[in-house]
Amino acid sequence: MINFDFKTYNDTEVIIDNDKKKEIISKLYSDKMSGFINNIIDDTEIRQILSVSNEIKKNSDVLLVIGIGGSFMGSFAIKEMFKSYFKIPDTEVIYLGTNLSTNYLEEVVEYIKDKEVSVNVISKSGTTLEISLIYKLIKEELKKKYSNEELRKRIIITTDKEKGKLREEVNNEGYTSFEIPSDIGGRYSLMTAAHLLPLAVLNIDIVSLLNGYKKGLELIDDAYFYASNRVALFNSGKYIENFSVYEDNLYYYTEWIKQLFGESEGKNNLGIFPISTVNTRDLHSLGQFIQEGHNIIFETVIKIENSKDIKIGDISLNSANSAVIDSVCTAHKYGNTESNIITLSSLSIENVGILSSFFMLTTVFSSYLFGVDPFNQPGVEKYKSEVAKRINISKI
Ligand code: PA5
Repeated sequence: MINFDFKTYNDTEVIIDNDKKKEIISKLYSDKMSGFINNIIDDTEIRQILSVSNEIKKNSDVLLVIGIGGSFMGSFAIKEMFKSYFKIPDTEVIYLGTNLSTNYLEEVVEYIKDKEVSVNVISKSGTTLEISLIYKLIKEELKKKYSNEELRKRIIITTDKEKGKLREEVNNEGYTSFEIPSDIGGRYSLMTAAHLLPLAVLNIDIVSLLNGYKKGLELIDDAYFYASNRVALFNSGKYIENFSVYEDNLYYYTEWIKQLFGESEGKNNLGIFPISTVNTRDLHSLGQFIQEGHNIIFETVIKIENSKDIKIGDISLNSANSAVIDSVCTAHKYGNTESNIITLSSLSIENVGILSSFFMLTTVFSSYLFGVDPFNQPGVEKYKSEVAKRINISKI
């Protein structure tokens, strides 16, 4: 279950123009990139993902996932959220593609030398430099220990249905493949094989995730209100939104939110810059700025109600955490820093599904309210085309 409190620590006046709201909602459903809401994965594909994930779990110590941006962040965030802090899973999932660091790649290559390995390469375009380079490196390594026939069991490609170099690779080599539908943009692709396959390998219940996701898509009114609230805050000079969490394992989820909002809204000199803090750690560092520094920040707290609790003397840890959250929001309000609170009844996979589609809806609504396209990323494309001038990607 999810609850919203956009009022207790936030006095911002929000005026909803109902005609505009109707127009924006119908724009969402008719956008050519609305696949995240109109073209949801079906049971057949879920079964295929589960079956491939079972094969990987049977034959591999390690799954290497090669992806970046929207083809990486979602599954990584959820993996981090549900991992044990100390236990290593039976099939480890190691992510590559988010840097071109020789040190990191050398260590990965060394680490997998005496292990059974599968690879999931994920790129919607199939032309992203990091992914093309690292896939080539890893494939060369795997060729040293596996036959072509064995490679066909161990290389899984997730990409566009028809276009791109990776699709050509599937057609030429006969590798198993999944599709990122053309009407679903990278950062909206959480409910596609791009993320569901690595999560299934980690034994995360992707069916519950999907159920939650579908429930979250019904939260149109809450998402629209939150989006309107954010834009009203922006118009009053609050240009930064701090996503604040009180569980360490939510940190990468805030990274996912940051990508979603940042890449969608940050256009035409507009948009709210997303940052995040992990508390109580950051209360003893950035908390000072948020309380009394340049007054351009508002906060959205993601609060988790825990079912487990530890008693230390007379004090329950959950009550202490909750009391700290209330205290921080109260103190920040004295400093004119508003807080929204989103509460999950527990850190369940279904609740995370609900939260994720809620954030996607909010992102689209906020972007439309700013008058920008939530689904493109012209700035990112610009940097990619500059790279292409310097490195001949077609030769990789
Ligand atoms: O949200 C997006 O569209 C981007 O972040 C892309 O996912 C990212 O640039 C990676 O692109 P691709 O999947 O084509 O390699």
